[in-house]
Amino acid sequence: MEILRDIAGVRAFVAAARRRGARIGFVPTMGFLHDGHLSLMRAARRPAEARAPALAPVEAVVIASIFVNPTQFGPNEDFSRYPRDEPGDLEKCRAAGCDAVFLPPVEVMYPSGHRTTVHVDALTGPLCGASRPGHFDGVCTVVLKLFSIVGCDVALFGEKDYQQLAVIRKMATDLDLPVEVRGHPIVREADGLAMSSRNVYLDPTQRVSARSLSAALAATRAAFEAGERGARTLEAVARGVIEAAPGAEIDYIEIRDAVTLAAVTQPIDTDVVLALAVRFGRTRLIDNTVLAV
Ligand code: PAJ
Repeated sequence: MEILRDIAGVRAFVAAARRRGARIGFVPTMGFLHDGHLSLMRAARRPAEARAPALAPVEAVVIASIFVNPTQFGPNEDFSRYPRDEPGDLEKCRAAGCDAVFLPPVEVMYPSGHRTTVHVDALTGPLCGASRPGHFDGVCTVVLKLFSIVGCDVALFGEKDYQQLAVIRKMATDLDLPVEVRGHPIVREADGLAMSSRNVYLDPTQRVSARSLSAALAATRAAFEAGERGARTLEAVARGVIEAAPGAEIDYIEIRDAVTLAAVTQPIDTDVVLALAVRFGRTRLIDNTVLAV
């Protein structure tokens, strides 16, 4: 596994893979890796399901990046204390079968005088965009730069960050990026909590309370499957479960259009996403589920 820290090194590595005819899969992360990240890396080796049988086998090269991107953190957020473990992460990337890992220093991604920001309109307004102003501009800017550095054919993103995936898909479409943006299902702990690098912040009591996120999604899904189609009624089901969890402070619980993230006029008659963000002390967790009609 190659460990690359500058742009020229990544471009040379990818150019050599391309000369062999390889397909380049890419998994951007902020490190402190868990099974959610690693399942993206393993999936990056597989061709798109639908096309797999028809295509002759093509060598897949998998590149991951680890970069805690300062521009996507707000001034009062956890950039400086975001958990880091470079040696542990490199070991996990190796075990997950990565061919290369790009770990750029901040000066490589943002040399002094960097002045360009990528902004996707509309989809970045609600949900996490409302509570984290500028967050998605930072995400889009770094992801576009990483796509441009790596020159990947396919990039994988977790559905855990549902709005992020929707925003990056929109950016790729609108800017005609030659990258297939592929989503991957949420990987969960045994008790249902979605894996997240931020779960290490939770104290034991908060960790128990945090089960309420997936429990709220499950209760709402059950009501939906039993025929309930009122968006506000379904949101209230989720709210009731979270409010019963000690120490949980709701940031948002919303049902929105699964593709455009537009507000849903009830009753629900298209695929929607139930998305929520909940704080436990200083730790903010997100989770979601798609309710398909
Ligand atoms: P990070 O939070 O490290 O997540 C990297 C990728 O892993 C994202 O696509 C995220 O959705 C996915 N992921 C995280 N937890 C997951 C889980 N439990 N199941 C499935 N996938 C999961 O998201 C970012 O970093 C950054 O915003 C980034 C895209 C790297 C830009 O800086």
